[in-house]
Amino acid sequence: MEGGMPTSSPAGSCSNGHHQNGTDHVKPWRSHHGGGASRSRRVNREIEAPPCTDFDKAYFQSYSHVGIHEEMIKDRVRTETYRMAVLQHQKHIEGKFKLFKEHISLRNAGLPPIGLIVVVDVGCGTGILSIFCAQAGAKHVYAVDASEIALQANEVVKANKLSDRITVLHGRVEDVQIDEEVDVIISEWMGYMLLYESMLGSVIIARDRWLRPGGLILPSNAVLYMAPITHPNRYAESVDFWRNVYGIDMSPIVPLAKQCAFEEPSVETISGENVLTWPHVVKHVDCYTVTVKELESVTASFKFQSMMRAPFNGFAFWFDVEFSGPATTTGAPSSADEATKTNPSGGHRRKRANPDEALVLSTAPEDPPTHWQQTMVYFYEPIDVEQDQVIDGSVTLTQSKENARFMNIHLEYASGGRSFVKESVLR
Ligand SMILES: C[S@@+](CC[C@H](N)C(=O)[O-])C[C@H]1O[C@@H](n2cnc3c(N)ncnc32)[C@H](O)[C@@H]1O
Repeated sequence: MEGGMPTSSPAGSCSNGHHQNGTDHVKPWRSHHGGGASRSRRVNREIEAPPCTDFDKAYFQSYSHVGIHEEMIKDRVRTETYRMAVLQHQKHIEGKFKLFKEHISLRNAGLPPIGLIVVVDVGCGTGILSIFCAQAGAKHVYAVDASEIALQANEVVKANKLSDRITVLHGRVEDVQIDEEVDVIISEWMGYMLLYESMLGSVIIARDRWLRPGGLILPSNAVLYMAPITHPNRYAESVDFWRNVYGIDMSPIVPLAKQCAFEEPSVETISGENVLTWPHVVKHVDCYTVTVKELESVTASFKFQSMMRAPFNGFAFWFDVEFSGPATTTGAPSSADEATKTNPSGGHRRKRANPDEALVLSTAPEDPPTHWQQTMVYFYEPIDVEQDQVIDGSVTLTQSKENARFMNIHLEYASGGRSFVKESVLR
């Protein structure tokens, strides 16, 4: 069906891996015909689409609710950083290349001038990022989403009279067909502690299917951090509370309260004051080169030195993403690379003093809050640490075998001569 609404499109539907011939499953809206042929440099990159599981269907179904999109769009830190990134690359794409003219010219880079840019929005949701791109002068945007929210995106595109510039494709990125190479991939794929949801795998597939050599990926790279934290109030609210409830001794509930409060990771906002040391880089993701395999399991060793005497209640995880050009084209180091260089032990965050540096969307405790907040892994019991006391160990993040959208967190840590292991699942 072209140019209109599919008559039957089950919520959270996806085709099953037949992406080249999957149009009976995928319902592309082509609000604009004809442009494709003249633009078309047919791409023929066969990438095997992973099967669409029932978990994936449930995942897409969850994005059909407007509330989740409302929350994301109302997160101004998130949405305005994306808008700024788009504008920066629209307004400054020439400026950007002037900036790097010692290294490369626009023509040598093989990038078309403004107005010829073709974009794929991986997981367009309501279409907001696609519309930002069209407003910024993209020639054409393919807005792809497997959730029913794509139906709404199509209406939004029409309401904004952008149907000739934005094609909404309702289907998985793994399954839909786009018959040309694209210059830019934009996507808001980041889950809690960066890798939860495993949506980055779909961006990788889009990149390998359609991105032209030298094309742009927004965001371009990401860094996941962790740090030990102190949060005695949280412990008191969840555990000590039961010791005296309206004068009644409810301490028999304490073990259950600890289990319920601290067994699994929790997403909450902490402040910089909760953080005991500089954070450590768990994973640096270069969106131009990262592979699906590399994301299946991530392990990092750490060694912290507490900057204060405090109860050590657990670890916090958060991330940054950066919107810069391909590092291989410009040779310009990303701030993530710099962060790792600044501290050979894995790196604390580098403060970004230079306004010419790439735009960064940060979810760090000391930065303005976002809907991602921080992800906490609490211990059942706090460990009292002295100033300068060493906390070392390792963390392994693995996509759950049961549901690849879930994440297993295996933590081994030692301090003050005692060692511990904590297993948890972010689901
Ligand atoms: C975090 S939301 C972002 C929505 C929108 N881009 C925004 O910034 O408001 C991610 C969207 O990607 C979609 N999505 C995730 N994986 C996808 C895939 N493999 N193919 C198509 N859509 C996908 C989800 O259905 C969801 O609507």
